[in-house]
Amino acid sequence: MNVTLKIWRQKNANDKGKFETYEMKDINTHMSFLELVDVLNEKLEQEGKEPVHFDHDCREGICGSCAMYINGRPHGPQKGTTACQLHMRHFKDGETIVVEPWRAKAFPVIKDLMVDRTAFDRIIQAGGYVSVNTGGVPDANEIPVPKEMADEAFNAAACIACGACVAACKNASAMLFVSAKISQLALLPQGQVEREQRAERMIAQMDAEGFGACSNTGACSAECPKDIDMANIARMNREFLKAKVGSSQIEVK
Ligand code: SF4
Ligand code: FES
Repeated sequence: MNVTLKIWRQKNANDKGKFETYEMKDINTHMSFLELVDVLNEKLEQEGKEPVHFDHDCREGICGSCAMYINGRPHGPQKGTTACQLHMRHFKDGETIVVEPWRAKAFPVIKDLMVDRTAFDRIIQAGGYVSVNTGGVPDANEIPVPKEMADEAFNAAACIACGACVAACKNASAMLFVSAKISQLALLPQGQVEREQRAERMIAQMDAEGFGACSNTGACSAECPKDIDMANIARMNREFLKAKVGSSQIEVK
């Protein structure tokens, strides 16, 4: 198949950036979208030109690196699919494919399609962990977890921190990501010790990074490659409220 790629090229955060057009001929339809960009990059390097910079690592839908807009959708047109697992057979012969970086104030462009997503790391560092020493690996089923809770924790834990929810949101809200990380620990016994501080600290860091508020539009969940449920956002809000009501920092006059 043949396709035309229109890719956003931007030298650095201060560069204005522009689209460049590349004609790709005789593409194998079983190729992944990232492999198509690899082919383009080999060609550009052979011509002595700068390759297209983009993030990638596992190429198995696990690491969350392959952040890019494809034809106006985060990770492309295929529901529940990361860009690295998107195959060329999902495009039409002769199609023009437009590729852009995530656009959000908290994710500044580094180069071309690569954006700085370390804001997510700082949110995790603010509280998305369990700091108690839990010792060695416990036997399976030693700590009983109700099935319903285990299922919900699993849904939240599937978040790969890709940032598509932020990119899809008109407010560049990070609430789906943060709520998934808070829920994952709030639903399990191991996460109870720091439950309240976690919600307060992660939400404070999210706000400090410049992400917007949730408008309940649902674009985040609709475009999430891991189908993370918006119910996590409602849970995060409850966690935050509970933490604030019980906080020792509230002054009673
Ligand atoms: S909630 Fe979904 S879209 Fe957002 S970071 Fe996690 S996996 Fe990506
Ligand atoms: S490269 Fe790891 S999820 Fe796509």
